[in-house]
Amino acid sequence: MPPFGASNARFLVVGLAPGMHGANRTGRPFTGDHAGILLYQMLHKYGFATHDHSEAADDDLELVDCRITNAVKCLPPDNKPVGDEINTCNNFLANELRTLPRDSVVLALGGIAHRAIVKALGMRQTEYRFSHAAVHDAEYFQLLDSYHCSRYNTNTRRLTEPMFDAIFAQARELLDNCKRE
Ligand code: URA
Repeated sequence: MPPFGASNARFLVVGLAPGMHGANRTGRPFTGDHAGILLYQMLHKYGFATHDHSEAADDDLELVDCRITNAVKCLPPDNKPVGDEINTCNNFLANELRTLPRDSVVLALGGIAHRAIVKALGMRQTEYRFSHAAVHDAEYFQLLDSYHCSRYNTNTRRLTEPMFDAIFAQARELLDNCKRE
């Protein structure tokens, strides 16, 4: 599944993998998946999307200076990506990260996405540990971590709406602060 959004966007959201009956069916990341409900609400609230809901790949929703991709592009068995899939797809992710404009912000949704990004950059996992709301300096972008907005995480309140809202406020601030003249 191709990423959604312009390739020169400064805000890149990296999810885990397309949901079996959602994004995998609709062809757009986080579309038709429970996890997409809160994600698109927040993207809209913080000015990264023209609507607060993503219906289908051919609706008129547009992302604004934002792009969404997944660490794993292939549909994982039982929705749990295994090492092989993460490795195969890591090349796609590395390309995606290499072509980011300067002063971008990358939001990793969950530990697997975070580790896939660190691996794609050839950085050491021990020096860049996943931690909710942490900001890591990569060479030419900042990596912001969040718990994944999955149904499981929101149901168990590992990730609440105010927590996710705060992540987007943080992303917006990081982008505004490093904007070049
Ligand atoms: N849908 C996606 O596209 N990615 C996720 O990580 C979850 C649901």
